[in-house]
This record gives sequence, structure tokens and C-alpha cells, in this order.
Amino acid sequence: MPVVTNIDDLREMARKRVARAIFEYVDCGAYTECTLRANRAEIEAIGLRQRVGIDVDRRSTKTTLLGREVAMPVALAPVGLLGLNWANGEILAARAAHNFGIPFTLSTMSICSIEDVAEGTGKPFWFQLYVMRDRGFAASLIERAKAAKCSALVLTLDLQIQGQRHRDLKNGLAVPPKLTLASALDIMTKPGWAFNVMTSKRKSFGNLEGRIPDAKSLTTLSQWIAGQFDPTLSWKDVEWVKNLWGGPLVLKGILDVEDAKIAAQSGADAIVVSNHGGRQLDGAMSSIRALPEIAAAVGDKIDVWFDGGIRSGQSLLKALALGAKAAMIGRAYVYGLGAMGEPGVRQALEVMQKELDVTMALTGLRDVRDASPAILRVS
Ligand SMILES: Cc1cc2nc3c(=O)[nH]c(=O)nc-3n(C[C@H](O)[C@H](O)[C@H](O)COP(=O)(O)O)c2cc1C
Repeated sequence: MPVVTNIDDLREMARKRVARAIFEYVDCGAYTECTLRANRAEIEAIGLRQRVGIDVDRRSTKTTLLGREVAMPVALAPVGLLGLNWANGEILAARAAHNFGIPFTLSTMSICSIEDVAEGTGKPFWFQLYVMRDRGFAASLIERAKAAKCSALVLTLDLQIQGQRHRDLKNGLAVPPKLTLASALDIMTKPGWAFNVMTSKRKSFGNLEGRIPDAKSLTTLSQWIAGQFDPTLSWKDVEWVKNLWGGPLVLKGILDVEDAKIAAQSGADAIVVSNHGGRQLDGAMSSIRALPEIAAAVGDKIDVWFDGGIRSGQSLLKALALGAKAAMIGRAYVYGLGAMGEPGVRQALEVMQKELDVTMALTGLRDVRDASPAILRVS
């Protein structure tokens, strides 16, 4: 077993273990991937101030998210198809998050259903909603999340229509996975993944069971998805969702300050500054570049969270310094899941917390809640 010291180690392990079509679904972005690259590169380009002569004993990474104490200002982002990275991946990631002391968000496009995860963990988790054309179905998902005692609803706003990811088309990504000559050759080198995932009970969209009219005729995931999302989704619908849900509401996918101002008036509890991990509008600015202006404009009215490009505790701390109260992480934990299942997610979180803690110490910070631009080097 290789020594894992950072998130890229987990990525490399996942790349070797997981079927290529699934690994690339996770790893890639939309079109030229310029936004995907900018997300990571532009956080990493921000400098930190090295400070000395400050007592940095007894540090704390704890904070609160939606009124609950968490071990660090991080939540696991909603990610589709976790259960194709590792059988029951949604349940395993939810457990790892719970045991670590942070929230897990279940995607609408998960393999395990809302009910599977509620039963498999026995603990509260968050549910992410995509509003579908069929509003009755969207309403039923909200009701199911309530019945499962989900403790927050994350409404994703930046996928009214799907951006193209070239690799998914080239790989013929299908759900449930299909055996083609190319995939068979690939899977022959990944017997551990094949046995684990192909023999598991669930291989399709758990929340949509009975909704996919003719699964056999589907050639690619994108084909099916393209017809499902509601391109008419508007701020009026946000109100509709809020009223139906009646609990803590998070709006995900805000990248523009004008939208952030509307969101701040919507009665939601938090927004996530996000470009969907570079998977939607290629050419959108990196989320770290969008963050400071949004935090300055609405940070006193609504909790501002962040995601996109975080692969280390250093990057996490920079986002906090630029005004985010917390961050969601996507690929960083999915690589852990693909590499080793539940222990891999745990390891991803441990790596990130350790990096966060050491970076706090070396920038003279004892309490993560005090992160501010003062720890950044502006040159
Ligand atoms: C493989 C994959 C699937 C995703 N699926 C969803 C989803 O179903 N719903 C959603 O709101 N966001 C989804 N996202 C976006 C993430 O929630 C998050 O915004 C993004 O991963 C953050 O960027 P990062 O991966 O660089 O941390 C997905 C991201 C990835 C990588």
C-alpha cells in the first residue's frame, strides 16, 4: 500500500483502481477545462504570510455550520455516481463524514437512494436537489428528504442545462455501466473495482428508480440527463422550494455578485460560491476569484461558503481568508473513496485537516474562525 501524504496520492490510487469512464467522469471538466484548471491554479497562486513570534499552541479548526458544531469548516459536496466509485459509496462517504464530524451532502444523482443512506447511516445528512421538469417529482424528492430527516437542503442553481464533458461522450459513460470492448479491456486491469461495483446491488440512479422510462435504450448519461433538468428554473422556484422544504436551505452555484445579492434576499441560510467544479460554464471565472467581491457584498446578510479547486488544507485556508465561512470539497474526497472506500474518505479529511492546522500555525493563526486577508501576502 503506497504511503499517502496528500490528496494527489489518493487521486493516483483512484486512477489505477477505478474504471476509466468513472474516474474521468470525476476528474474532468467541461469543454476545454480552462475553468477547471483556473479553480485550482488560482488558489494555489495566492501567497500566505509566514509569521513568527506568535504563540500558536492550542489551535482549533472547529466552527459551526448551520448552527451545528463541526470539526473543521468543510462539508462533503454533492457528487453524482459515488456508488460507482465504490459499492455503496454514498453510505461510506456519509459515515466517514459523520465520524469525522462534518456534514455529507447526498446528490440527487446518487446511486444509493435517500432512503438507503438514511438506513445505512442512521445519522442526519444533507440532500442536494436538482429541480426537474416534472415538478411533482421535485416535490416528492423534497418530501423524501424530509421523511429521511435530512438536516439541510442544498439547491443547485448552476445546472439548468448541462455543460458538455468531452470525456463522458468519448468513454460512452452509461449508467448502469455498460460492457463494451474498450471498457472490458480497461476493466480487465481493474478486477478489484469490477468485482466490488459490478456485484453490488445498486448500479443506477437510486433516487430516480421507476423514473427512467427505458433504461436499455440509453446510450450515454449525458443523453438522459439533458432532457431531465428544468431550464426554466428561476428565483420564483427558489421560493417554492423554500416553502415546501421549510428547513435550512443552501443555494449552490452562485458566481456573480448580482445573483449573490438576490440570493441574500431569498431567505436562504447560505450560498455556495461555485462553478460546479469547472464542469459547467467553461470560461467562467475561477470560484476563488469570484469569492472576495461576493463576500464583501453579502457576507453580512447570508453565510458565504465556497467550493472549487480545493485539494489541500492550504487552499482551504486561503478561501476562508478571502471571506468564506466554510468550503465544500468534491473531487478531494471522491479520490479517497475511489482509492480505498470509507478509509480513503477518512484519510482525505485527515490530510486536509492536518494541512489546515499546520498552515494555521505557520501563518500565526490559532482559531480557524479568525482567518482573514491578514494571513495573505498581497504582492
Ligand atoms: C464527479 C462530480 C459529480 C458532481 N455531481 C454534482 C451533483 O450531482 N450535484 C451538484 O450540485 N454538484 C455536483 N458536483 C459539483 C460539486 O458539488 C462541487 O461543486 C465541485 O466538485 C467542487 O469542486 P472540486 O471538485 O474542485 O472540489 C459534482 C462534481 C463532481 C466532481
